[in-house]
Amino acid sequence: MAEDKGYGSEIHEVEKGSEHSGGAVNFLHSIQARYAKVDPASYLRRPDESSSSYWVRRLGSLKPIELLLGEYNATPLRRYLNAFHLIFFGIGAIIGTGIFVLSGQAAANHAGPAVTISFIVAAVASSFAAMSYSELASMIPVSGSAYTYAYATMGEFVAWTLGWDLILEYMVGAATVGVGWSGYFVTFFKVAFNVEFGENWTEPPIKWQESPASIYYDEGHYFNVPGFVIVMIVTTILCIGIRQSSWVNSVIVVIKMLVVFIFVFALCGFVDRDNYSPYVPPNTTGDWHLFGAPGIFAAASTVFFAFIGFDSVTTAAMECKNPRRDLPIGIIGSLIVTTIMYVAFCTVMTGAVSYTELNVAAPPTVAVSAVEARTGKSFRWLNIVVSLGALFGLTSVMMIMLLGQSRVFFSIAKDGMLPSVFAKVHPKFKTPYVATIVVGTITAILAAILPVDLLGNMTSIGTLLAFFIVHAGVILLRFTRPDVERWFKIPGGKYLFAVFPILGMVVCVLLIAVAEVTTIWRLFVWMGIGWIIYFSYGIRKSRLHKDPIGRFAEVHAHMDPKEESRYEVQDYDYNHERM
Ligand code: ALA
Repeated sequence: MAEDKGYGSEIHEVEKGSEHSGGAVNFLHSIQARYAKVDPASYLRRPDESSSSYWVRRLGSLKPIELLLGEYNATPLRRYLNAFHLIFFGIGAIIGTGIFVLSGQAAANHAGPAVTISFIVAAVASSFAAMSYSELASMIPVSGSAYTYAYATMGEFVAWTLGWDLILEYMVGAATVGVGWSGYFVTFFKVAFNVEFGENWTEPPIKWQESPASIYYDEGHYFNVPGFVIVMIVTTILCIGIRQSSWVNSVIVVIKMLVVFIFVFALCGFVDRDNYSPYVPPNTTGDWHLFGAPGIFAAASTVFFAFIGFDSVTTAAMECKNPRRDLPIGIIGSLIVTTIMYVAFCTVMTGAVSYTELNVAAPPTVAVSAVEARTGKSFRWLNIVVSLGALFGLTSVMMIMLLGQSRVFFSIAKDGMLPSVFAKVHPKFKTPYVATIVVGTITAILAAILPVDLLGNMTSIGTLLAFFIVHAGVILLRFTRPDVERWFKIPGGKYLFAVFPILGMVVCVLLIAVAEVTTIWRLFVWMGIGWIIYFSYGIRKSRLHKDPIGRFAEVHAHMDPKEESRYEVQDYDYNHERM
């Protein structure tokens, strides 16, 4: 782990180096000076500055890390979470639709039994992002996650863009899972009690057709009641408190891990080796998506969704007792545990039944039925357990994603770019309850009326964009702010560390490139809406520009004392012309 050499030591090393190596180092030093600037007045319009240059400068203005750390110290949220809770948060967010639904579809359509290798490929790709998130979280433990990291590295405009993008990952992600939850709810009642619910009130009325791309009204379907209700229940728990939410999440995670173990141990003795042959089915059609070695990568892009969620651990930064140490443990720990579980799950599932049978909504139940048919034994209990595990599993995914979305809105509202009501903290529960209620209600309505495929694709692409910016941010901060303490550092030393985030960026670009063209278009439309909101509201209301002196003064008392000489907040001219 990183050794803290004391504030500024590395900048001074660069200064010493500049005597010998001239231009390039001087350039680096001048950039470092811009990143290290902690001067509230620098956000105001200079008397000789033209209006256009001032507005353009605003787009790229950075939020100093010192201000962010002061915000952590000043947080009104309850600091309750430890490393153990965070690993559980990570597992809670990760294990869900990806394993209980997409694993079978990826095996049947792209990779066959080698879907297990696809999971390992997706895990390696995710581990790059996990390292980048861990390093940034250990240096900037503030609840906005990628939005905050972008504000500290690439300026306000990129930060807003990313904040808007995160809605796709967290809010739209939660709605997707809400729709999937409803499907398992119906299956569970059918398998366990032979009760069948009609489709009218368990499926969304709006449907999406990929080719030709169109949305249509599906007659006879009115409202997805189970999806709506579960999102509202989760929202209520999140409002009541971080302690209660963490407790409920931990119980759910224990149950879903148990279900995965039970599935693996119950079926591992009934694996039919013939199902593994061929392990990598040959590509016979010429379409690279379909089997063969490339099919493994096509499947990896589908099951990448199964790993989404570990990053949401960082949104709870302000509610952690020791975020610099515990956030990296939560992110990396949860990724390792879930990778092992996914590999075991897929190995058994594709061994129990031929991969060709797995293109269904609940693939593990097909594996169970195949074993029943082969052995003549009844495994009805296992199908009930698996459906129940999926129901619980999806519930915690929704919970952590909604928690993440409300904390991102909380951070953006604190910065003034969303109405201040989103930053309101409940006096008793110490949660951002207004943000939570608004996010939960919108998500519940989305889950109730929109189809799962339209939503799910947007989540993956939105997440990949966030990962890309985070990778770039970690490289930027290594060179621009070497002085800030990092509890976790990506291994590789001063320059070689960059191999990991660069590989991570390449993976993101590749996975975005294989997405449906219509999904990429939808991403642009979504971003366009976000930019309209920013230019008509956010840019004018941003507190870093509207009231920089007040913004710094608010957290001044909470800044690190060894930094204090660098802030002269009280001495600024409060009558200076401001926007
Ligand atoms: N990783 C989460 C899931 O698979 C999003 O549902």
